[in-house]
Amino acid sequence: MCSNGMIDRIDAQIDVKADEEIDAEGKLLLPGVIDPQVHFREPGKERKEGLGSGSRAAVKGGVTSFLEMPNTDPPTTSQAALDDKLRRAARTCVANYGFFIGATPDNLEELNNAKPVCGIKIFMAASTGNLLVDREADLERIFANGDRLIAVHAEDQARIRKRQAEFRGCTDVAVHSEIRDNECALRATERALALSKKYRRRLHILHLSTRDEVELLRRDKPPWVTAEVIPNHLFLNINDYAKQGTLVQMNPPIRTAQDNAALWSGLHDGVIDFIATDHAPHTLEEKRRPYPESPAGMPGVETSLPLMLTRMLAGRCTLAEILKWMCNGPARAYGIPKKGSILEGHDADLTLVDTETFRPVRNEDMFTKVRWSPFQGMELTGWPVYTLVGGRVAYDKGTIREGVLGKPLQFEN
Ligand code: DOR
Repeated sequence: MCSNGMIDRIDAQIDVKADEEIDAEGKLLLPGVIDPQVHFREPGKERKEGLGSGSRAAVKGGVTSFLEMPNTDPPTTSQAALDDKLRRAARTCVANYGFFIGATPDNLEELNNAKPVCGIKIFMAASTGNLLVDREADLERIFANGDRLIAVHAEDQARIRKRQAEFRGCTDVAVHSEIRDNECALRATERALALSKKYRRRLHILHLSTRDEVELLRRDKPPWVTAEVIPNHLFLNINDYAKQGTLVQMNPPIRTAQDNAALWSGLHDGVIDFIATDHAPHTLEEKRRPYPESPAGMPGVETSLPLMLTRMLAGRCTLAEILKWMCNGPARAYGIPKKGSILEGHDADLTLVDTETFRPVRNEDMFTKVRWSPFQGMELTGWPVYTLVGGRVAYDKGTIREGVLGKPLQFEN
């Protein structure tokens, strides 16, 4: 039973007349998923996505809280830009929201003082948008000053530049994975790890993509370092370029089947702490431009939970693992209180999923504004039937119940 936005009582039988009762017979009740890396494009590129549309896609996928990235337009690199995002989110977000502050070479003050933020995001290599900090002195200054969590997009910009020149003129998107190769990711992850160790600075490595990084962290992962993986790097690999071309172009790029396997094993043995989606919407029209004019990134916020639950039903992972990877793991890593578990006194962010019916992913069913998915055609189960945010139904069997609004997340770290 939920009241005042919280899980009030958990019992086999509760004899209280509720305003609304939900028949959960035969369904699986889960804590709402926390997606700790999304790009919702607002402000600046609302034609691709907005905080409203992105959060609606989120609750459709069972995601009740998200952490959003600063590569918007303008980028979220100051308190003023953060306040603007918070105001927009308060008006339109149907899920709970938190934001990263983006690092530039000269906004140290804002990085350490802007509030509320879940952490500092450093793009060590250029990707969508214009955020980049790749000079050693600038990175060192950020790691050396302050104690906030630093989340890194770890790719080596110098090596990317060099390899872009070597592959100039190539229009086969498969070279994307060669230009931004495993070595690019490994070098940057090593660099971030070294800085984190030197200053004992809380580090989170975003979207780990290579077996090389898994092996590095298996050998050397201080207790204050966490790492995540995204479904694209678990379920897709370079063979998908032949089928989907530039649609599956992203940064860091999709890798080989061996990398997929190493990432799964890293998840199972705890080297990788949790799962994010890196939901990065671009329109199909933009994505179909010839390489390298095609933008990097794919939507994913509404398919991550069904992908994982389908894997669970195939006997390849357990429910306890999914809860750790998608609910309580991100809550613990970012210090988000009272979320990520179904416990009396916790916030009533819940999703009720159907693990009996299989349905294909279809572009036309997507709630993201860009209305496509790299997983189109896959038969998945575990689709949410209801999603509750703060004890109120936000998603109800295929539709959004308007009127429910998420709240700004609190961070204890
Ligand atoms: O592929 C990507 N797309 N990687 C990123 O780092 C950014 C993202 C985006 O915002 O489009």
